[in-house]
Amino acid sequence: MLKTKDLLGLYHTSAEEICEILERTAHMKELLNQGKKSEKTLAGTALLTLFYENSTRTRTSFELAGKYLGAHEVNIAAASSSVQKGETLIDTGKTLDSLKVDFIAIRHPLAGAPKLLAENVKASVINAGDGMNEHPTQALLDMFTMREKFGKIKGLKVAILGDIKHSRVAKSNLFGLSKLGAEVYMYAPATLMPKEIEKLGAHVCRSMDEAIEGAHCVMGLRIQLERQKGGLFPSLSEYSKFYGVKDAMLERADKNVIVMHPGPVNRGIELTPSVIEGENSVICEQVTNGLATRMAVLSLLREYRENNL
Ligand code: CP
Repeated sequence: MLKTKDLLGLYHTSAEEICEILERTAHMKELLNQGKKSEKTLAGTALLTLFYENSTRTRTSFELAGKYLGAHEVNIAAASSSVQKGETLIDTGKTLDSLKVDFIAIRHPLAGAPKLLAENVKASVINAGDGMNEHPTQALLDMFTMREKFGKIKGLKVAILGDIKHSRVAKSNLFGLSKLGAEVYMYAPATLMPKEIEKLGAHVCRSMDEAIEGAHCVMGLRIQLERQKGGLFPSLSEYSKFYGVKDAMLERADKNVIVMHPGPVNRGIELTPSVIEGENSVICEQVTNGLATRMAVLSLLREYRENNL
């Protein structure tokens, strides 16, 4: 049983809750593998996706998760909503409460926006990415993918490479993986490595070799040019040369290494095309697992609502 009405991040989510979500995700994946897309788990509820930033994977998988589990599902794109007329986030939330929405999946450029919304609505709020803070369902689907491949999380070496500073995916993975006993190694240009990340449990590496040596999982991150004012690295080609993942590097990793990327990938920058398409890549499986993960989170939050609200 989850302990709160919302899923805002993994920093405040316990290991027990994470394990419960992973177990439920396995159940949802089994349903998907059996072609079951007409479950009634969320019948009688309404899910709203509220995205103030672009998305392909997250928004679509939340929408499909709701539909496959029988919820009424509506999307608001901020660009075409009353946000453009000056409506505040809290007023938008109160409007959605008045419309009897049960779940709001929100993506917002500002860290903390989902928490602010959650504190002001009766609906369950799920953080679908807030600025440079957290993206909990992405980390959960990443952990589920690792667990599927290795049968465990504890003891895995996970190398996270690239734009750590701007990455909510890196932070949510660090919190979740550390709670389940994995070791997280990070490598990035000094300008893209947060100063305090070691205090949060990461091993900061001095070289790509140090990060990848013996790694079970190599995770590339998208360079987030939209959150940078420029000047954090000399050029994309130089970034690719020194920080991009190439086939030969994977020979240093564990023999069963998996290559992950949250997407969207800048092909040839964070990973070479042959790494993206290679036999170690699980990038497409991550997307499928994202759907199962969001189905799991929604069903567990529904149980919380039924038992506590
Ligand atoms: N990984 C991820 O959040 O992808 P989208 O931006 O396409 O949702």
